[in-house]
Amino acid sequence: MNRTTTEVAIVGAGPAGLMLAHLLQRAGIDSVAIDIRTREEIENTHRAGILEQDSVRLLVDSGVSDRVHRDGYRHDGIELAFGGAGHRIDFQGLVGASTQLYPQTDVFIDLADARVRDGGDVRFGVRDVSVADLTTDRPVMRFTDAEGVAHEVAAKVLVGSDGSRSICRHEFPEALRRQFFREYPFAWFGILCEAPPSSEELIYSHSDRGFALISQRTESLQRMYFQCDPREDVADWSDDRIWEELQSRVGANGYVLKEGAITSRTVLPFRSFVQEPLRHGNLVLAGDAAHTVPPTGAKGLNLALADVRVLAEELERHLRSGAADALDSYAERALQRVWRAQHFSYWMTTMLHRLPDASDFDVRRQVGELTSIVSSTAGSTYLAEGYTGWPS
Ligand code: PHB
Repeated sequence: MNRTTTEVAIVGAGPAGLMLAHLLQRAGIDSVAIDIRTREEIENTHRAGILEQDSVRLLVDSGVSDRVHRDGYRHDGIELAFGGAGHRIDFQGLVGASTQLYPQTDVFIDLADARVRDGGDVRFGVRDVSVADLTTDRPVMRFTDAEGVAHEVAAKVLVGSDGSRSICRHEFPEALRRQFFREYPFAWFGILCEAPPSSEELIYSHSDRGFALISQRTESLQRMYFQCDPREDVADWSDDRIWEELQSRVGANGYVLKEGAITSRTVLPFRSFVQEPLRHGNLVLAGDAAHTVPPTGAKGLNLALADVRVLAEELERHLRSGAADALDSYAERALQRVWRAQHFSYWMTTMLHRLPDASDFDVRRQVGELTSIVSSTAGSTYLAEGYTGWPS
């Protein structure tokens, strides 16, 4: 067993864990981050693609990425499509903010490159991960590295940023934790296709046949989704069948999609989840380990980055000034934003998707709600504020 020490041991080296390690290093705080996945596995998992303006700022100002401006696309609004037409929500005009289309996989690559550049200690492809002694002042993280060597890292604080299949969140004694869940009776069928963009901005499309989202990646690669049954089997969907479904959903609102070969198809489950508290002894949770949102509001990655921005600040207070309230203060500050984002994601989801047993009343009511949003400056501003990200 190889025994070492560090200040912060980070379980999970996705965007949350790596951004935390980066911010800590800038504050002069040592960390070790581990992940059971290899770097290649993480790079090849397609996730969402929209960054709030403060997420962009964090990546640029902390020295992670200038590529986000170069290779990303600034979006000054979205289209809300329903009732036969598109209605633009003008983020710049309403709240003076934009979002950036820049896929999570690129955020991860930039963060992983920055760790290599700055000599950070990150181990991918580890196994047998466990944490122990959480309520002592010397909690430990154990793992076997990719070469088969067993390690024990003693730290001052452990961070569980190990995603929606977190092992760390199960370390909270059942009597002390609460888990808040909401399941949805639908999922998204997501595709990547080789085609030019069909729209410059995202189209969120409500229709009688269900929701569809038209997103982009590059000049020649596009990302699109349509609402489907959670048990849908991708093998049942030929390219033709997928295009027919997508075209009919956006066609109802006056759009025509540019088609191309479909290179990836996945069913994405929908869930809202929060575990409280975020702290147990010297273990804290961040990102998807602590909470999951449905993808409709594009909040998942942004929320994870917001968590670790606050966590890095509070860890610095804790480790440098001995602030006794710092870890609880992190939990309280992070949870405020988490529940706002839970509401926003739930709201966007329920406003735009068709419930399997929806009555005509339900569908007309949704159109009434969407009309209220697009025909009122107050309504549109509410959406624009939430979508581009509340100030921290
Ligand atoms: C994406 O581009 O993958 C994307 C964009 C917006 C969302 C969800 C996913 O709300």
